[in-house]
Amino acid sequence: MTDDTRIAVKPNVLAGTHVDASKREAMVAAARDEPDVFWKHESRRVAWMREPTRIKNTSFTGDVSIRWYEDGELNASVSCLDRHLAERGDQVAIIWEGDDPNNDAKVTYRELHERVCRLANVLRKLEVKKGDRVTIYLPMVVEAAVAMLACARVGAIHSVVFGGFSAESLASRIQDCESTLLITADEGRRGGRRVPLKTNADEALKSSPTIRNVVVARVTGGEVPMQEGRDHWWDDLCRDVEPSCEPERMNAEDPLFILYTSGSTGKPKGVLHTTGGYMVWASFTHELVFDYRPGEVYWCTADVGWVTGHSYIVYGPLANGATSLMFEGVPSWPDNSRFWQVIDKHQVNIFYTAPTAIRALMRDGEEPVKRTSRKSLRILGSVGEPINPEAWLWYYRVVGDERCAVVDTWWQTETGGLMIAPLPGAVELKPGSATLPLPGVQPALLDNDGNTLTGPAEGNLVITDSWPGQMRTVFRDHQRFIQTYFSTFPGVYVTGDGARRDEDGYYWITGRVDDVINVSGHRMGTAEIESALVAHPKVAEAAVVGMPHDIKGQGIYAYVTLNAGEEPTEALRKELVTWVRKEIGPFAAPDAIQWAPGLPKTRSGKIMRRILRKIAANEVDGLGDTSTLADPTVVGDLIDNRVG
Ligand code: WTA
Repeated sequence: MTDDTRIAVKPNVLAGTHVDASKREAMVAAARDEPDVFWKHESRRVAWMREPTRIKNTSFTGDVSIRWYEDGELNASVSCLDRHLAERGDQVAIIWEGDDPNNDAKVTYRELHERVCRLANVLRKLEVKKGDRVTIYLPMVVEAAVAMLACARVGAIHSVVFGGFSAESLASRIQDCESTLLITADEGRRGGRRVPLKTNADEALKSSPTIRNVVVARVTGGEVPMQEGRDHWWDDLCRDVEPSCEPERMNAEDPLFILYTSGSTGKPKGVLHTTGGYMVWASFTHELVFDYRPGEVYWCTADVGWVTGHSYIVYGPLANGATSLMFEGVPSWPDNSRFWQVIDKHQVNIFYTAPTAIRALMRDGEEPVKRTSRKSLRILGSVGEPINPEAWLWYYRVVGDERCAVVDTWWQTETGGLMIAPLPGAVELKPGSATLPLPGVQPALLDNDGNTLTGPAEGNLVITDSWPGQMRTVFRDHQRFIQTYFSTFPGVYVTGDGARRDEDGYYWITGRVDDVINVSGHRMGTAEIESALVAHPKVAEAAVVGMPHDIKGQGIYAYVTLNAGEEPTEALRKELVTWVRKEIGPFAAPDAIQWAPGLPKTRSGKIMRRILRKIAANEVDGLGDTSTLADPTVVGDLIDNRVG
């Protein structure tokens, strides 16, 4: 595949598209040259209780201060619900498709509004106040969206923890933000199996003293213990309250949510998003990139526990009055045609998934796809990790029948919404490229010394000016925010990704340049997995790197040094895999563990990960200079005993 491969989606498919090439150019120029005018105009996307007059007030230097719409007032739940009632109260807001193909449900905007109001009243009754933190640990059920919006309604800051996280991970996320209330479920369902959410929550609550109340949704009806006075059934509480609820007036810069995400070092950070700018950005990007039109059915397959679920299952689509499909299951169950069957069943027009899923399904050939119609599809999206051109083309040809635009969307938890992505019909596509920045996004490539590269180049991807959806701080740790994102290259936002820009100005994301790995679109810090491993009593030291993986994009490769006297057995290897699953979550289980009597370190004791990455990738010819190592002989041993 070369950079010259261009695909212009046929105009008939996109007739009536929102933005064409010249309109896009005009928007890019306006957002860059007159941000206050441009973003004032776009602010109409949300329902203000008080219209903002001050639009952009941001600085990437010194203390780093990011404020958008700072004198505006609004409530995110009103933008997502109340203001749609007059026009589309009876339109379906959420189509829920169960893990079991015979199980589904449709919730209209009016019904969703009532369910959110009831839970919001419950939260108030349980003394949740504006600014309090509420942790949400739920499976992919409508209650997850209801819980988020109910928090927004009363001004509580939600922190959603992905249901695949372990009790330990849940506990540390509750402790960090000191939530006073937890919303969970009896159990979740995935691929025909049950996920013991309440049991995990109970375990986490042993070390989470700030939690006073637990609201438990009945999802499977499984038997779970309930602690008197602390645990309450969702249905019971919601029955006894009013179906309407006065929304809290929030300043545009009041926090909407915290979402924990992994970085190179330390514990996961509480990424903080505020209300006004985030909502405008979620709405703006959802409408432009997915070319969303009223009445269409839109499906994002992400989990609400990740940012993609926040912005593109809940806030963006609902702000735009869309019908958003929420899927409880997995692509491979009951069989590997499930995605396409769901698309036909609910006549999905816009489908948004991750490259991992595409690569896994590609392996099973075209038949499971081709036995479905998929005629309703118009736009196909990709997110979470780089999409290789082969997977892109398969998605375009086999799934989309060469009829649908493929939009590869690059962004991050920190950016709140899409940043680099094509506008279908306005930007020609190149398989494997996220293409061009959205209006309002100003990327640049820097070399390692911080020099700005021009023209075609490859380097560190940074963003030079603020956009409304940008994270505002790390919850209760503004210094860490500055340190992480604004110190390597002062004055710009450092994404942690590398990218190449071609002669047409298209961006090709090459992956993380830091110690973050991306496994099946799940972002993890290698340091987190290392600290889980060294917490095992038999482990002396561990170093974790990413390795190329055909389906997952990256796999987890762990080098483990055991304590003196411990035997490196197959049983212990399995035990360590189970250990990491329990410490972090099943998705963090190492794909390979290599016993390492020693790790390559510099004389000052720093592990040389560059070498470990090369060995894991089986690129042992290009190890580079190893003369600075304290003990160069360890490298030979590691190469000889490579796993896989
Ligand atoms: C990676 C997920 C290439 C990237 C929305 C980024 C991508 C990290 C793409 C953020 C893409 C996301 N192409 N890489 N289209 N989308 N990434 O915070 O490395 O879970 O920094 O947000 O995923 O992961 P996060």
